[in-house]
Amino acid sequence: MDRVCIIRVSTAMEHNPYEEPKTSQIKDMFGIQDSSDGSDLIRKFVVAETEPLEIATLTDNGYVLEPPNLIVPAGTVVYDDIPDDLARAVLGFPDPSDKGALLLGNVVGSSGTPVALNANVVLPRHVLIVGSTGTGKSWLLGKIAEQLHERGLRMINIDIHGEMNRATEQMGGKVYVPGKDLKVPLSSLAEPEILGMVPVQHDLHIDILTKAVINLKAGKTKFGIGDLKSEAIRVGESYGAKQNTLDIISARIDQLGQIPFIGQGLDWKAALSESGTIVNIDCRMLPQSQLQLVVAAITRDVYNARRTGAIPPLVMAIDEAHLFLPATDKAETATVLSQLIRMGRHIAFGLILVSQTPGDLDKSITKITNTRFIFAIEPSELSSIYGALSDAPPEIVKGIPRMKSGTCLLVGNRETVRHATVFEVGGRSTHHGGETPTMLR
Ligand SMILES: Nc1ncnc2c1ncn2[C@@H]1O[C@H](COP(=O)(O)OP(=O)(O)OP(=O)(O)O)[C@@H](O)[C@H]1O
Ligand SMILES: [Mg+2]
Repeated sequence: MDRVCIIRVSTAMEHNPYEEPKTSQIKDMFGIQDSSDGSDLIRKFVVAETEPLEIATLTDNGYVLEPPNLIVPAGTVVYDDIPDDLARAVLGFPDPSDKGALLLGNVVGSSGTPVALNANVVLPRHVLIVGSTGTGKSWLLGKIAEQLHERGLRMINIDIHGEMNRATEQMGGKVYVPGKDLKVPLSSLAEPEILGMVPVQHDLHIDILTKAVINLKAGKTKFGIGDLKSEAIRVGESYGAKQNTLDIISARIDQLGQIPFIGQGLDWKAALSESGTIVNIDCRMLPQSQLQLVVAAITRDVYNARRTGAIPPLVMAIDEAHLFLPATDKAETATVLSQLIRMGRHIAFGLILVSQTPGDLDKSITKITNTRFIFAIEPSELSSIYGALSDAPPEIVKGIPRMKSGTCLLVGNRETVRHATVFEVGGRSTHHGGETPTMLR
């Protein structure tokens, strides 16, 4: 074999004239063995619908791949098996023994090729995981976390359901609960976020507070409730405000102290000091209104820490990503996450977004993610990501809503996953916390 055309089979049908309904019935009646296992029956054959993927030429230095720009003549021998190294080359997967290979499962089909993704290439270009409820998204996220941990990569997981707590502990990581052992400094919140939390209505009060926040933000250093109070008083005095006004503003700013998640921020450098660390942020107890503020503040802090080189390369995963990057209204988190997703590749900071409803996700962000895992999903949601399915053939796309749990379509581009492929996500060694409990006990 010097030169072969690699084809992808999307549907296949057996033609077997030896097993027509009538002949099968007669064989059954007389107890004659059927021919379904016979491989040497000359009129029996399989018709497969295929699509050429690559032309591969074997050289002394491995395979050279080219786009399939020639016609394969009729009568050419067809092999139904493909050597593992060739399958890997065609799909763009690294050798599973490579240091940066993330092993996630096996390709569905006769080859069973291991699905290995190159962490260095895939992660900084961001990942999207979508699928209906109970299809295997969180399982896969846990599998990715195990692989990152094994390869010594750091991960922060925004855990909306607290389902990665046990796995995190099993991997020697740390679970933080916002409002309990994770607080965010006031300076990590955006100006409208701070103003929205201080209950002032009077125009003068709002003006003083706004100016104080702007001044502190311009200082670009960390500040807390006490600093905001002093600055507001200073601004108030410069405006000639009466003592009464200053007292009201001080009292209102003091009320920020009652918000449980505001305080000294986490020392991200220390929290992520060990290689392979996973930090799980259990957000179960946060009401929706605070969830966005906290996630936005954490993202800002971590993004800035990475940008300035204070922390090593890392991955951040966000479940229910549509809450933070919604298609319609502007969420507090959207600005910072969009910035992160655009800059991530340059600063080795990867984002993994998980969603049940990609139709509710900001389309411009979905487009930027490069590697996508698509689990079984409603046709209406699937239509929202049609443009994001790379070269997946229509027959495979049609089958997505019926894929079984734990099986997904993997797509990317020539740098990451060269050709769309369906694979089964592999087993987990850590606890999966997203089980579906039984209703009846
Ligand atoms: N690769 C897999 N191997 C074995 N079991 C799996 C696999 N993927 C999923 N499962 C099973 O399916 C169940 C649901 O999977 P999972 O929790 O990952 O769903 P999900 O897509 O995250 O759903 P939701 O959107 O509701 O969070 C798991 O509890 C597990 O039992
Ligand atoms: Mg889940």
